[in-house]
Amino acid sequence: MSSNRIHINDVSPRDGLQNQSIYVPVEGKLALIEALVGAGVRQIEATSFVSPKAVPQMADADILFQRLPRDEEVQYSALVPNLKGLQRAIAAGAREIAVVLSATETMNQRNLGMSLDRTLEVCAETIVAAKAAGLRTKAYIAVAFECPFEGSVPPEQALALAAKMHDAGVDQIVVADTIGAAAPSQVGALMREFVQNYGCEHVAAHLHDTRAMALANAFAAIEAGVRRFDSSAGGLGGCPFAPGAAGNLATEDIVLMAEMCGFHTGVSLEKLMEAVAIAETHTQQALGGRSRAWLDRYLRKGSKPIHHAT
Ligand code: COA
Ligand code: ZN
Repeated sequence: MSSNRIHINDVSPRDGLQNQSIYVPVEGKLALIEALVGAGVRQIEATSFVSPKAVPQMADADILFQRLPRDEEVQYSALVPNLKGLQRAIAAGAREIAVVLSATETMNQRNLGMSLDRTLEVCAETIVAAKAAGLRTKAYIAVAFECPFEGSVPPEQALALAAKMHDAGVDQIVVADTIGAAAPSQVGALMREFVQNYGCEHVAAHLHDTRAMALANAFAAIEAGVRRFDSSAGGLGGCPFAPGAAGNLATEDIVLMAEMCGFHTGVSLEKLMEAVAIAETHTQQALGGRSRAWLDRYLRKGSKPIHHAT
C-alpha cells in the first residue's frame, strides 16, 4: 500500500441509516450503495445483523446483503453484535464483519444489554468464529475518547480493550469517537499509539462531527499515520443509543481534504454527491458536510481536478 492513499469506508448505509426515524426500504438502501460504488468507494459498511427490536431500520439486513451489487473490488462489511449476528451475516454472504465494544461499562449496557466483561467475551468468540469461517474482521472501540454516560475515557482503556481484540485475532481496530467529543490533540495522541502498536494497515478512525471537529480530528489522525477512515455520505449518522451523537465525518469532506493534501482516495466527488442526493431523498432531509456549499458551486462550474498541494 502506498502511503499517499487514504482508504474510505463509507458507513452511511449502517451508521447513517440506523438512526433515521423514516424507514428506508431495501430499494432505497440499494440505490445509495450503488451510487457509492459508482463514486469509487471500495469499502462500504452495508448493514448490521442486530436484533430487529433494538434497531428496526436494520431488520432487512438478510435481504439487503444478498442483493448488494457484486463487484470484485468492493468490500462490504456488516456489524454483528454476537454469534447469532455472525451466523446471519455468513448465511447472507458476508465476507467481513465488525464487532462492537464500548470503552465504558454503561455504554455497553445501553448498546448491547451486556456488561463490558461479557461484551469482551462475546466479541472475542465472534472474532474467533468469523476468522475460522475465513472472514475478515474488525473491532470497533466505541466511545474511545468520551462516553455520554461516564465522561472522559482514559487512553489506556481504549488501548487495553484493543489489545484483547488483537489477542482474539482481529484484523483491524476501529477507534471511534462515537459522540464527536474528542479534541484533535487527543485524537492525534491516541491514534499515534494505535498506529505504532498495530501498523496503519490495521487501524482506522471513526469520527463524528457533533462539535465541528471531525475534519480537524481526521487531519490529526492523518498526521499520526492513520490511512483508513470511516465516513458517511452527506454526514448522515448518529447512534440511537448514545445521546448527543450527531452526524458522522462526511465522506465528501474527508475526500476533499485528503485530495487537497496530495493523497489519493479513488473517490469521485461529483458522483459522490449523487449518493448524497439519494440519501437526502430517502431520509427526507438536507444533508452535506462542511464543504457542501463550495462543492455545489464547484460542481456546477464543471469539475476540474482538485488542486493538489504536493
Ligand atoms: N440478530 C437478530 N436477533 C438477535 C440477535 C441478532 N444478532 N441477537 C439476539 N437476537 C434475538 C434473540 O434471538 C432473542 O429473540 P427472541 O426474543 O425472539 O427470543 C432476542 O434477540 C433477545 O436476545 P437476547 O440475547 O436476550 O438479547 P437482548 O434483547 O439483550 O439484545 C442484542 C442483545 C446485542 C442482540 C441487542 O442489544 C442488539 O442487537 N444491539 C445492537 C445495538 C446496535 O446496533 N447499536 C448500534 C451500533 S453500535
Ligand atoms: Zn458512528
